Amino acid sequence: MSVTRFPQDFLWGGALAANQAEGGYREGGKGLTTVDMIPHGPSRMAVKLGQEKRFTLRGDEYYPSHDAIGFYHHYQEDIALMAEMGFSVFRTSIAWSRLYPKGDELTPNQEGIAFYRAVFEECRKYGIEPLVTLCHFDVPLHLVVEYGSWRNRQMVEFFTRYARTCFEAFDGLVKYWLTFNEINIMLHSPFSGAGLVFEEGEDQEQVKYQAAHHELIASALATRIAHEVNPRNQVGCMLAGGNFYPYSCKPEDVWAALQKERENLLFIDVQARGAYPSYAASLFRDKGIALVKEAGDDEILKHTVDFVSFSYYASRCASADMNAGNTSAANVVKSLRNPHIEVSEWGWGIDPLGLRITMNTLYDRYQKPLFLVENGLGAVDVPNEQGEIEDDYRIAYLREHIRAMGDAIADGIPLMGYTSWGCIDLVAASTGEMSKRYGFVYVDRDDAGKGTLARRRKKSFWWYRQVIASKGEDLA
Ligand code: BG6
Repeated sequence: MSVTRFPQDFLWGGALAANQAEGGYREGGKGLTTVDMIPHGPSRMAVKLGQEKRFTLRGDEYYPSHDAIGFYHHYQEDIALMAEMGFSVFRTSIAWSRLYPKGDELTPNQEGIAFYRAVFEECRKYGIEPLVTLCHFDVPLHLVVEYGSWRNRQMVEFFTRYARTCFEAFDGLVKYWLTFNEINIMLHSPFSGAGLVFEEGEDQEQVKYQAAHHELIASALATRIAHEVNPRNQVGCMLAGGNFYPYSCKPEDVWAALQKERENLLFIDVQARGAYPSYAASLFRDKGIALVKEAGDDEILKHTVDFVSFSYYASRCASADMNAGNTSAANVVKSLRNPHIEVSEWGWGIDPLGLRITMNTLYDRYQKPLFLVENGLGAVDVPNEQGEIEDDYRIAYLREHIRAMGDAIADGIPLMGYTSWGCIDLVAASTGEMSKRYGFVYVDRDDAGKGTLARRRKKSFWWYRQVIASKGEDLA
């Protein structure tokens, strides 16, 4: 039987990201960001992957981030709903371009600061602890066009200035910070992940790992600044998690899975352990990568994070032949389809035990507290005749994952908290759809951007409220 053993001070809540929730893309002095250029529709993937340059908006396309779910104007109502569920933590991100519209200014946009102060004060009013990501899939567009984004070392200076501004401006309101959302995703989705676009014939692996090095330096410096500004600040890295299982016990498949694990964990190894791992040298050699480092970089990287945060939607599978057909997207990371688990309507695996396995792996490796900052089921919700949404499928998914989390805690793993993804329906990052819903709260908006934006509590809203009230004991 599963045992749930959540500590008394466990943080229960949910997560959003600025670019998928706020909208108001040109309001309050905000500048354009990468995600504002990613359309819904057939060009989406090419733009997200950095294969198609999109530096100007087109009149014939729809851009879901521009209005998203209007959190920019609805934040009081939304935070009140979170408070009603009993949240003690709310994860969101700051849109870098609200504070630095172009990204390379020397002083911040005060309107942007005022907006986030208001959001965080609203959280505090209800005793909700904000957990804030500095960069969640949005880079100011000007930095992409003028500097080539993270391929350029100057980004370290721009990012650390922005980070310092956040730590100082929101000191006393925010103490939990994440630097880069799902840092490993930049390898799979380079434009949305890190603002990278590629030239014809360019060595993309070289560009991506060099850009990642710059992010790692920026992340370590930001961590140091956070601690200087206020020693109570706690900073985490953020992994798009989910272990790779070997597709079979064939040694070649086991080796392939180990290689995939290393590719996934490389950046977290740096952020949590303070240096590139030993296998980095052979990985770079095999890929023909020559990292350009500056004197002092190794010292900088020694500023490790306080905790390891991660998202978990599904486990993954690898074999020696990853092109053997039968693939499934497990959060844009290529994976073979695991015949032993069910998949969601979008083909993402459903594997609660995989969460326990992932947590054990991460804790064995890092020995730092973990924080599960994204988890959930993207599903179509159809209101019934009374207009109610009976999302039992979502409840079933969350119940099993919360159980698995409890099992991992019983395994001896310190877990700081849980923020389920898209606690209020928002725009899907991969597809730009609204119909891929994760929330406890339904938002009246469709894939074409039509709808009243009215909020409505789903059945899962009442269920999650009970889970939180019972501190994870009542999952019925
Ligand atoms: C994570 C991201 O990759 O997965 C989120 O951090 C994203 O931004 C989430 O929304 C779920 O993916 P999707 O494509 O269903 O929105």
